[in-house]
Amino acid sequence: MSELRTPHAGDDMAEDDDVVALLMRQHGDIRNLFDEVEAATGEERRDAFRRLVRLLAVHETAEEEVVHPFARKGFPGGEQVVKDRLAEEKAAKETLAALDELDTDDPTFMPQLLKLRRDVQEHARAEERYEFTHIRRSADVTGLAAMAKAIKAAEAMAPTRPHPGVESGAKNMALGPVAALMDRTKDTVRKAMGKG
Ligand SMILES: [Fe+2]
Ligand SMILES: [Fe+2]
Repeated sequence: MSELRTPHAGDDMAEDDDVVALLMRQHGDIRNLFDEVEAATGEERRDAFRRLVRLLAVHETAEEEVVHPFARKGFPGGEQVVKDRLAEEKAAKETLAALDELDTDDPTFMPQLLKLRRDVQEHARAEERYEFTHIRRSADVTGLAAMAKAIKAAEAMAPTRPHPGVESGAKNMALGPVAALMDRTKDTVRKAMGKG
């Protein structure tokens, strides 16, 4: 079951053609998943957190493989912008991996989750402001679409909604450590970019 997204017929088309629109929508999905984890308890919180971990791991890894390499050379100062973003991503991924070891009922879980949320939000804002605006200006239409295609391929690995009945299959497929998911994301993205 894929997520229904019907209000604007143009939305998906924009995302197919424009890697920036797609990544900004994922930033929104990530915010929503943080909300879900905070609002839920017990098994529901566990499930929402699992989806958050997957989306974050896939999102950040795909950015590292697709948009950062472009940004590095794509505009003046890109090298430094990417260096700063990578440092933020590294910190967020470390917190994420540590959180992933905890049970969601653990008393230290929530404070750490809220810290992660703040870091991730700040990072997303910095990307949008210092990286994505320049990417949109400097990439041509084909480049934006090619990058969007690779990000979409990665996104298919990280469903953001609960999938009744699919959970056990997803478990077999992908509930290993965060690092394993990142490795698989890299492979998927490289294949989608024709480097596989
Ligand atoms: Fe990022
Ligand atoms: Fe991002």
